[in-house]
Amino acid sequence: MDYPFEPFKIKSVEPIYLTTKEERKKILEEAGYNVFNIKSKYVTVDLLTDSGTGSMSQFQWAALMQGDESYAGASSFERFEEAVMKYTGKKYVIPTHQGRAAEKIIAHVLFSGQDGLVAVSNTFFDTTRANFQFQGAEVIDLPSPKAKDIFSDEMFKGDIDLEKLEEILKTRGDRVKLITMTVTNNTQGGQPVSIGNIKKVHELAKKYGVLLHIDACRVSENSYFVKKYEPGYEEKSIHEIVRETLSYADIVTMSAKKDGLVNIGGYIATDDEGLALKFKEMLILWEGFPTYGGLAGRDLEAIAVGLMESLDESYLEYRVRQVRYLGEGFKKAGIPVMWPTGGHAVYVEASRFLPHIKKENFPAQALVVALYLEGGIRAVEIGSLMFGKDKEVEHEFVRFAIPRRVYTRSHMDYVIEVMRKLRDEKAHIKGLEIVYEPPYLRHFLARLKPVD
Ligand code: F0G
Repeated sequence: MDYPFEPFKIKSVEPIYLTTKEERKKILEEAGYNVFNIKSKYVTVDLLTDSGTGSMSQFQWAALMQGDESYAGASSFERFEEAVMKYTGKKYVIPTHQGRAAEKIIAHVLFSGQDGLVAVSNTFFDTTRANFQFQGAEVIDLPSPKAKDIFSDEMFKGDIDLEKLEEILKTRGDRVKLITMTVTNNTQGGQPVSIGNIKKVHELAKKYGVLLHIDACRVSENSYFVKKYEPGYEEKSIHEIVRETLSYADIVTMSAKKDGLVNIGGYIATDDEGLALKFKEMLILWEGFPTYGGLAGRDLEAIAVGLMESLDESYLEYRVRQVRYLGEGFKKAGIPVMWPTGGHAVYVEASRFLPHIKKENFPAQALVVALYLEGGIRAVEIGSLMFGKDKEVEHEFVRFAIPRRVYTRSHMDYVIEVMRKLRDEKAHIKGLEIVYEPPYLRHFLARLKPVD
């Protein structure tokens, strides 16, 4: 079977409002050719992000009713804390309203008021990078050389470059405060990270006295890849692999909007009592009392259940294979996709797909616009529009991020069908130019227009 059986039945449905091509043409014009400006009711298949967009199970919905909304000492926190302790193996658990709130707190505690500190990573996600920089840290990405060839079959392209890491630790070790391993590696095509790589990073971190932070948003999905493809892990359970992965970390942060299978939430977890206390001090200032941390009691309940559900192997098998099915559909249609597909999204290389559009005319955004016009599909540009102002952009990616437990095979077939049509008519797809851009994170608010 090339398509995984959905291991659930649908109990509640959300209708999709269908638009015509004429309507979408107008909607795009009004949105300034930026899909962030389009109302979700006008989107047929929404692959903008896998963050906070998943479906909750009947057990999560039932758990919501147990929400204890007390300001202090809520019993919902006890259930949340127990679940996070069980999931991560860490002793101290600090709830936050989402991932970037956890990042803001650790960044403040580790970097604030100290000049010249450095943080290195297999690749920082944008919010992590921005939070660390905001506190004055220098941030350095060290993606594995395996990630260079984006079309090769090699596994674990999410790893860090160990040689370069050791070189930096040797030469600037006294300034390096933190190593962040983003698992899976979202900005590098959602590629998994091997435990072997994390173990070596842990050894280097100990040798040079540097803290190891794991950004664990998608660690359940990562553990599925480890079980399937890393020798020695075939017989381990997903939970054992998650626990081993996180055992190497001094600090874990997680946006529960991904593998927590909820619409909002996050946390920090650590075994370090001193750090935990400092994190809690900032939590009270920015998020709330340590037994709710910016969340409602019912949110804590939903996370407690969702984290455990994400460890279910039949769910993960369906999840990862659904992503692969979409990627394979594109590949068979001759569309250039980053390979292998990762855990949460398919990344299409748009400058290869649309070679007639110059980099300065945003080929990936042009494809995003064409996808919406043709099929009402919303994907996201990860290329020159998003990063071109701040750094040299190597690849013009369009990311098709798949929400968890939301879409079925026929939705995936529809997306493949629309991409096939675009492949046949791609000579007509036009590049874009910016007519307005804000000073920071321009892709969210930019307005564009087509160029001939
Ligand atoms: N770390 C990673 C690896 C992420 O992918 C995200 C969010 C965050 C941290 C921040 O978490 O959104 O809860 O504050 N990624 C989303 C995405 C937004 O679309 O990839 P948050």
